[in-house]
Amino acid sequence: MYVPNRTLWMLLTVLIVLATSARAADPGNGMCMNCHGSKEIMRLEGENKYIDPIKFAATTHAIVGCTTCHDHVPAGHLKDGYVPSKATCGDCHDPVLKEYAKSFHASKAGCTGCHNPHEVRLPVFMSGDDINSKCSRCHDSRKTIQSHSKWLPQAELHIDSLPCITCHTGSKDYVITLTIESRKPGTKGDFKNASYEELAALEKGEEVSRVIDLNGDNLVSLEELRAFNHKLRGKNMRLWGMMTPEVVTHSYQILDNRWDCSFCHASGPRAMQKSFIAFPDKSGGYIRIAVEKGAILDILYGTPDFYMLGSTRSTYLNIIGALIVAAGMSVPLAHGFFRFLTRKNRKEDDQ
Ligand code: HEC
Ligand code: HEC
Ligand code: HEC
Ligand code: HEC
Ligand code: HEC
Ligand code: HEC
Ligand code: HEC
Repeated sequence: MYVPNRTLWMLLTVLIVLATSARAADPGNGMCMNCHGSKEIMRLEGENKYIDPIKFAATTHAIVGCTTCHDHVPAGHLKDGYVPSKATCGDCHDPVLKEYAKSFHASKAGCTGCHNPHEVRLPVFMSGDDINSKCSRCHDSRKTIQSHSKWLPQAELHIDSLPCITCHTGSKDYVITLTIESRKPGTKGDFKNASYEELAALEKGEEVSRVIDLNGDNLVSLEELRAFNHKLRGKNMRLWGMMTPEVVTHSYQILDNRWDCSFCHASGPRAMQKSFIAFPDKSGGYIRIAVEKGAILDILYGTPDFYMLGSTRSTYLNIIGALIVAAGMSVPLAHGFFRFLTRKNRKEDDQ
């Protein structure tokens, strides 16, 4: 197998391009963006001819450059009926293509069903909600919650705390990624990820991570979590956790062990040792800062809005966690039991 070599060559080529030309001179994107980056084209030719300049600039594809993927574009190809060439994802992402091709899902959605090539991001620069929004293009969220609630208690809470890929891809290690959420003060509306602007206003122009990382050392301690909760929960802000794969794979499937509650709930603190807070940035993406080991296990001060039963430091909650595992063996029974156990946490509209 010489696949790794090909990947290596591709990366090397990119690095060489990077070192020699891209940084020094724009790889020609500016010319194309004169038209495709202006809102005018959206009005005249439709939304998919428009490329958001800020989102595009944040991708590695910007370094690859428009004319690498569209290498036959006649000058001023406006209304000439000519359709510029388009590279295929597999030209450069052969390993991902091969992995994905093996999954049942490959016959249901192509790469561009989930990725806009002009807005790609590495998973570490995305929130769990953004990841889920890829799936909800085709999988109606309401229906997904309904079908999963047949066996998964509090399906809505679970799906809010787990991007679909946590259960539907065979990734190995998981981390907890927290985001700051807010809602309009005085309302009982849904919490949404706080925007960059909202947090920048609180910080008066400083790095938004300073909302929590008070001393700016790029590490969030339990003390800092505590201070955040103390100060900002009253202002309708909270920290919401999601369990996400540390490394993304494309092996879409239904995995038997994801029925098993203990896959997540009885693994003990080990599963939650690595955690991050994702702060929004100006380009619509996120920047992650690590949280002190174990700090989010402190559900009293660290993350009062997020806890995975069975993984906390509290013995009491771990006993409940153990009960979950036992009860998981008989799902219908467990269902009623958990509805009782968690009656206070359920949303009002959940019947
Ligand atoms: C003068 C404005 C202008 C410039 C400059 C321009 N484009 Fe376009 N482009 C358009 C318009 C208008 C369309 C839609 C009409 C059409 O397809 O002929 C289009 C369509 C396209 C399409 C879609 C064809 C399809 O599949 O429907 C691609 C791809 C494309 N342009 C790439 C590029 C690239 C790459 C560059 C830079 C090398 C570029 N364009 C520069 C105006 C421009
Ligand atoms: C990494 C490869 C890559 C780069 C870089 C890239 N594109 Fe594309 N582009 C594609 C692919 C693949 C498609 C087809 C997407 C699809 O089928 O939905 C596409 C589609 C388009 C379309 C047509 C959209 C539509 O559905 O009508 C336009 C216009 C376009 N690109 C312009 C550009 C411009 C301008 C740039 C640089 C600013 C650029 N592209 C950079 C890969 C790329
Ligand atoms: C001309 C080569 C080329 C093509 C074609 C191409 N990519 Fe990429 N892409 C790259 C390179 C180089 C990187 C950065 C290194 C890496 O992640 O492999 C990258 C990175 C990515 C990333 C990670 C985000 C980032 O900013 O690093 C995603 C997601 C991605 N590509 C998806 C796609 C999809 C989907 C397509 C087809 C629509 C596609 N690529 C087509 C070269 C390409
Ligand atoms: C069913 C949805 C889906 C399909 C189809 C899909 N991807 Fe992805 N892909 C994701 C998600 C979710 C991520 C993680 C978030 C992100 O980076 O966009 C991801 C991440 C990636 C990354 C970055 C991985 C990393 O960590 O470096 C690349 C590259 C990529 N995809 C390429 C592809 C290619 C090529 C195809 C087609 C063969 C494809 N994807 C098809 C959902 C999909
Ligand atoms: C472009 C449309 C599209 C997108 C985007 C998409 N899917 Fe699908 N997916 C389908 C279709 C069509 C089916 C088959 C019908 C069904 O089961 O709903 C399917 C089936 C599935 C199945 C059932 C597989 C089985 O073995 O029965 C899973 C699991 C799944 N998708 C997960 C995901 C996840 C996770 C994402 C987001 C990362 C996603 N899908 C994004 C179209 C899509
Ligand atoms: C806690 C783990 C878990 C999460 C989170 C999860 N799933 Fe599933 N999903 C499963 C399991 C297990 C099955 C198999 C259940 C069955 O066959 O009834 C399944 C079945 C499916 C199916 C096929 C059967 C059906 O119900 O339609 C689809 C499609 C699907 N999931 C999509 C999604 C999407 C989209 C998301 C995110 C919004 C998601 N899942 C989140 C574990 C999960
Ligand atoms: C893929 C991981 C995963 C699987 C599998 C899983 N859960 Fe969960 N569960 C979570 C996460 C993450 C939360 C955290 C919710 C929060 O506090 O934000 C949670 C929360 C809960 C809660 C609610 C705690 C509260 O705050 O009210 C209950 C009850 C629960 N799970 C029971 C189960 C049962 C029963 C099963 C098996 C049928 C199961 N879970 C399977 C990850 C999982």
